Amino acid sequence: MPLAIDDRPPVTVTRALCRVEDLRDGHSRGFDPLGEGRDTMFIVRQGDRLVAWRNNCPHYDNARMAWKKDEFLNADRDRIVCGAHGALFEIDSGLCVQGPCLGDRLIPVALDIRDGEVFLAAPYKHGMRPRPGRPHN
Ligand code: FES
Repeated sequence: MPLAIDDRPPVTVTRALCRVEDLRDGHSRGFDPLGEGRDTMFIVRQGDRLVAWRNNCPHYDNARMAWKKDEFLNADRDRIVCGAHGALFEIDSGLCVQGPCLGDRLIPVALDIRDGEVFLAAPYKHGMRPRPGRPHN
């Protein structure tokens, strides 16, 4: 049985997620914009460029991807990696280039940078609901 898609309407988040300077260059960081108790998205910073994705692996059950808090990248820091089964994704495109979901893509999150602060550029959907009786990975 797949996870249920949360059918609550997307929420407009007006507060900043963080400041650009709070993001370490060449690293990733998870965010929980709606206060759901888990990081439902993450940002990768590469120099002045920020790329954001939903924390949902397309391989299995929209699983969480970090192998450790805020760690969404492989050892070389040139790919996003899913901690569950090791799928590798291009940072820019979200395309899976190695692993069990080869050819699938991550879900992008649009950002808006204003005065050095990072905002969501569009209303944000809640994360997937866990299955009853089973913790969401
Ligand atoms: S759940 Fe991500 S690679 Fe399997």
